Amino acid sequence: MIICSCNILSDKQLREAAEEMRADPNGKVPTPGAVFRHLGCRPRCGGCFPSVIDIIHEKVSQEATDQDRPARVKRSEGR
Ligand code: FES
Repeated sequence: MIICSCNILSDKQLREAAEEMRADPNGKVPTPGAVFRHLGCRPRCGGCFPSVIDIIHEKVSQEATDQDRPARVKRSEGR
């Protein structure tokens, strides 16, 4: 789904960019502006920022939830 109509960026592109930035040990914190720069574009109207922030935080929230889960739950998922 297109999230940023100014730059024609999809939720998938934004999610992947945020993940790449977090995976880079020397990378920057994935803010909306940093994610746009990572994708080689610049924010224009900013109307998509609330959705971009939600996409960035949904992944962070998922990672935090995974880390908070008991180890026995994680192990049983691998079976
Ligand atoms: S909709 Fe994303 S900058 Fe305008």
